Amino acid sequence: MKSLFFLFSYFLIATSSSSLTNNQIATSSISLSNTTDKTCLFSYWTVYIYNGINDPITVHVQSGDDDLGNRTIALNDNENWGFCEGVTFKTLYYAHFYWNSKSAFFDVYNDDLSDKYCTKRKYRQQERCFWIVREDGFYLGSHRSPFPEGFTKLHDW
Ligand SMILES: *[C@@H]1O[C@H](CO)[C@@H](O)[C@H](O)[C@H]1NC(C)=O
Ligand SMILES: *[C@@H]1O[C@H](CO)[C@@H](O)[C@H](O)[C@H]1NC(C)=O
Repeated sequence: MKSLFFLFSYFLIATSSSSLTNNQIATSSISLSNTTDKTCLFSYWTVYIYNGINDPITVHVQSGDDDLGNRTIALNDNENWGFCEGVTFKTLYYAHFYWNSKSAFFDVYNDDLSDKYCTKRKYRQQERCFWIVREDGFYLGSHRSPFPEGFTKLHDW
């Protein structure tokens, strides 16, 4: 009896997950995004920007509907934020960086960057990207340390 129940539960799970994949387009109008309780239809992403410079730097992260404002971060401190990956996989965050008289501006999260440099997507798992800001430029990887193993330098100041 018990095994029959498990079989039935498995059938329900298998059915609902396969219908989810088949109906990705149909569900695109439904927003399950809620970064407060981390309930996402797809992956929940957290992006970290660590300052590796022995000076405070200012970081200003924005997206089409989100503005994190200017944040000044000290050496080894970080700016981070989380969001649900959109059904269209078109989430985009960009940032301005200021370090004394220098500045930089580029995308800090998009689908292409996360595919290439961040943790590998697993269905409904928490994923992460780590930027390390150094005097010689900006590095992206899938972990905080060790540096520079697994990191790729993508921009100069
Ligand atoms: C997100 O979840 C929190 C906590 O469960 C709830 O209070 C809030 O209303 C939700 N926001 C949206 C946009 O659904
Ligand atoms: C953010 O800080 C930079 C550098 O200090 C400054 O140039 C810029 O105007 C600030 N932006 C806002 C919105 O305060």
